[in-house]
Amino acid sequence: MHDFTYKNNQLYCEHVRVSDIVSRVGTPAYIYSRKTFMDHIRKIQKAFRSLNPLICFSMKANSNLAILRTMVREGAGLDIVSGGELYRAKRVQCPPGKIVFAGVGKTENEIRDALRYGILFFNVESIPELELIQKIAGAMRRKARVSLRINPDVDSRTHHYVTTGKKETKFGLDLRTAEEIFSHRDRYPALEFCAIHVHIGSQIVIWDPFVQAFKKVLAFTEDLERMGGKIRFLNLGGGWGAVYHKEKPQTADQLAKKIAPLFKGRRFELVFEPGRFISANGGILVTRTTYVKQTPVRNFAIVDAGMNDLIRPSLYDAYHEICPLVRKSGTSKRIYDVVGPICESGDFLAKGRTLQKIEAGDYLAVMSAGAYGFTMSSNYNSRPRSCEVLVDGRKFKVVRKRETYASLVAGEAF
Ligand code: LLP
Repeated sequence: MHDFTYKNNQLYCEHVRVSDIVSRVGTPAYIYSRKTFMDHIRKIQKAFRSLNPLICFSMKANSNLAILRTMVREGAGLDIVSGGELYRAKRVQCPPGKIVFAGVGKTENEIRDALRYGILFFNVESIPELELIQKIAGAMRRKARVSLRINPDVDSRTHHYVTTGKKETKFGLDLRTAEEIFSHRDRYPALEFCAIHVHIGSQIVIWDPFVQAFKKVLAFTEDLERMGGKIRFLNLGGGWGAVYHKEKPQTADQLAKKIAPLFKGRRFELVFEPGRFISANGGILVTRTTYVKQTPVRNFAIVDAGMNDLIRPSLYDAYHEICPLVRKSGTSKRIYDVVGPICESGDFLAKGRTLQKIEAGDYLAVMSAGAYGFTMSSNYNSRPRSCEVLVDGRKFKVVRKRETYASLVAGEAF
């Protein structure tokens, strides 16, 4: 599942000892395994090879240029949601025909830039957005390819913050509205309605919501084709779960077994937008214990990474396994809350974990931090953001420098 393993009680990333990296770059540090990322992309390519989908890595999960470039070189495209993400896509020379653009709030400038670059299509989420794209494309005398993102009203049974396919959420178009848009498509002469999009949520560990949603997409697409439409692409979104703890998400093979038969023999070109599945298990966040504090009711390991570095535990109550960089033999185990230095009780990385005895100076790895880790980090409490390191076999490279105090205030004036 990943390439972080113990050899002689020391944690390694591929063939590099994690403590060797940390002694060079300090903590907190995000450390990524190139091989783990590649393995996950290849698993998808292999499982779905009969359908030959375009895999657009959802860069909100991990947008470091070095990682994006590796993905693009592997043939992947990119799923973007902002002008900033488009900028990153251009920086790694992602072919425009492999970029899909989602999000409920695309601005005029973002739409113009994406049109100019010639992206594959916009995943459109509302009528006002459609009208704006029409206006901009018309003025630019361009044809904009659009994909209607439908909201299939399917429960993906995941955390409610990352559920996107229920009708109460802000995402997508209900089927009636989407159909109405389509029947009045001559109102949008600058648009080419060439795709349907669906994305029902994130960290989905069961297959039936996907099948339910995709069946709705197919039935809907057939309706549109009866109305004379020509749908070339089906963008089936992302959302495939990764392993954090005891959950047993679908493997790419298992998903393909359920999903591929739905599309076999049909002429649609498929797009997938996985983020977490590809990158979650390929990254860790390494942190150093500053103090161990005992209170009458808790043992706290106070570490130098906090919710500004990894917000998932605080925001979603997410579970990330904690592993020591060095396994000590013969020490007793204790129960710890692993907490950051930030002035909020919500600032924790793990609670109630049974771990080997921790002392000040000990290093811990927060596992499965390669998706929605660094990308969601912030400067809260004026903390410089961590560095990022990419390991490839026996080599490692700092692919983002640690921020400095000067970079914290860059752009401010007084
Ligand atoms: N496509 C669309 C349109 C999306 O909105 C997302 C994620 C993806 C693809 C990729 O989803 P994935 O395959 O990674 O599940 N910050 C949260 C996750 C937010 C997901 C947002 N949308 C977390 O840390 O759990």
